[in-house]
Amino acid sequence: MSQTVTMDKIVAFCKRRGFVYQSSEIYGGIRSSYDYGPLGVELKRNIKEEWWRRIVHMRDDVVGLEAAIIMHPKVWEASGHVMGFNDMLVESRTSGRRYRADHLIEEATGMEVEGLSPEELTKIIQTDERVKDPSDGGRDFTPVRPFNLMFETYTGPVKTPENIAYLRPETAQGMFVNFKNVLQTSRVKVPFGIAQMGKSFRNEITPGNFIFRTREFEQMELEFFVEPGTDREWHEYWIEERLEWYLDLGLNPENLRKREQSDDERAHYAARGVDIEYNFPFRGWSELEGIANRTDYDLKKHAAYSGENLEYFDQATNRRYFPYVIEPAAGPDRIMLAFLVDSYVEEEVEGEKRTVLKLHPRLAPVKAAVFPLSKKEPISTIARQLYDELKGDYRIFYDDSGSIGRRYRRQDEAGTPFCVTVDFDTIDDKQVTIRDRDTMKQERVSIDTVREKLQGLISC
Ligand code: GAP
Repeated sequence: MSQTVTMDKIVAFCKRRGFVYQSSEIYGGIRSSYDYGPLGVELKRNIKEEWWRRIVHMRDDVVGLEAAIIMHPKVWEASGHVMGFNDMLVESRTSGRRYRADHLIEEATGMEVEGLSPEELTKIIQTDERVKDPSDGGRDFTPVRPFNLMFETYTGPVKTPENIAYLRPETAQGMFVNFKNVLQTSRVKVPFGIAQMGKSFRNEITPGNFIFRTREFEQMELEFFVEPGTDREWHEYWIEERLEWYLDLGLNPENLRKREQSDDERAHYAARGVDIEYNFPFRGWSELEGIANRTDYDLKKHAAYSGENLEYFDQATNRRYFPYVIEPAAGPDRIMLAFLVDSYVEEEVEGEKRTVLKLHPRLAPVKAAVFPLSKKEPISTIARQLYDELKGDYRIFYDDSGSIGRRYRRQDEAGTPFCVTVDFDTIDDKQVTIRDRDTMKQERVSIDTVREKLQGLISC
């Protein structure tokens, strides 16, 4: 990773190259909402597809699910979110700004205050002179109060309390409430998992750091159901398996670590939690994914609230039990930011600056670009035919404008791992050159073998 990657640089780069735009920009933008442009949508889709491939398609003990975003409101009562999915909110009377009390204190004093009560946080804010309103230095704050992060809405035309519904704050509950459906309709046996990815919503008090923390975001979650007593071993397995996924996709191991969650920060349902963190140059070690041992908390709660029997009957041992759940829960938006930062390199090549995204070919938004050296016949027809042959397999880009050097630079910035050039010699020898983004080395190959060759290079 280049040492010069700053948040400003990444944000400007993402906009200039069509990865990420501020949402509703022509109206001045809306805080913490972002739109993924032509390259960004491909990169994020590839991250999600790689997750799905590894978690669902490559295994025979995990099945997929797509649950609704708006679920029965009782789901969120049973899960504990209505009562307990809170952040601690404090308001500055001098500026009118709102802050997360724990963040305000931690940033001013370095103290670890996660898990403290509103009263304890209020006392620290009132007595510790180091805690000031970052916007104006004021020290006049309201008492700290819990603020529920769930977005409320109404189902149907009447806005009455009975019609309140929530936008899901995690995808996980979709798996728990469908546990019985999946058991009855597929041939799964414990240990097995249900995976889902999709949008979640949290009314974060202080969203920020670009796509790292937003109010609307995506999650990729697996609920892996195991026999009680085997949960610790499975937890270790999933921590290592998830770490491997990042490394296999080329994330620099020096920027990746696992961290044990403290008792105070762990979610109410978790017996143990381990985070996979990335060392962002602009915010230090930060969570990409949490892997929790959720015990049998959720299934038991839903059984109690719904009246359904959600126990598992183990035919081999003739035993009924509530399975324990190991949950790797990741966020593709954050993961995309990590891959962007990790792969962004500025280097000098023959006296010229080159910006390149050294993304793993599986993640690269565009897998290959086809360049005819001339717009004239027969070169352009040969190049078009090659493009048409390749384009069904992946996102392929055709570019016949500008010097070849400029075309290479454009694709380097987009992270395109291979550029295929059709030149004047191709007319006679039926060969083209494939140029590697990272080494910039060129190899001459028969045009008939390009598709097969690229398939080998991309799926490595
Ligand atoms: N079901 C467990 C759960 O939701 P979490 O740690 O709150 O756990 C899992 O969320 C992942 O979702 C996080 O590691 C992060 O990658 C992503 N995530 C959570 N809140 C987010 C936000 N406001 N913006 C972007 N990603 C978020």
